[in-house]
Amino acid sequence: MHSKYLFPLFLLALTMSPSCYYDVEEELYPSTECNTSGVTYTGVIAAVVQNSCISCHNQSVTNGGVNLDGYNNIKVVANNGRLLGAIRHDNGFAAMPQGQPQLPDCTIQKFEAWVNEGAPEN
Ligand code: HEC
Repeated sequence: MHSKYLFPLFLLALTMSPSCYYDVEEELYPSTECNTSGVTYTGVIAAVVQNSCISCHNQSVTNGGVNLDGYNNIKVVANNGRLLGAIRHDNGFAAMPQGQPQLPDCTIQKFEAWVNEGAPEN
């Protein structure tokens, strides 16, 4: 293919990528409102893990040796720092959820708030 077609193709791919729409939206409307008070395990954490993580981290599939099935298992990675390291994409941690866009900033802040509270079973 002639190289003059490559750049338009690249732009097209960029426009069609759903994750890019998402990124742009985040930049245009930075989320100033993120209520991290009263975050509970049952209200927030369990639902996010169920939707974004459980398929790869459960009793039978324990990628990275991590099982996120149920409070007791989640508490282990909350306490040893791997939970926040992974979802914040901190250096030295595998970036989660693997193969998917990073969780929204506000969701990450809620996880941080919950872990900082001592990751209670609430
Ligand atoms: C598509 C499968 C997949 C999904 C979805 C997924 N993970 Fe993972 N996870 C992996 C794999 C594979 C590893 C091991 C990666 C490695 O060691 O390089 C891993 C490793 C981890 C680790 C250990 C990280 C470290 O460096 O110590 C944590 C914690 C983790 N995942 C949490 C999560 C959380 C929380 C979610 C949901 C937000 C999630 N994962 C979603 C596949 C997945």
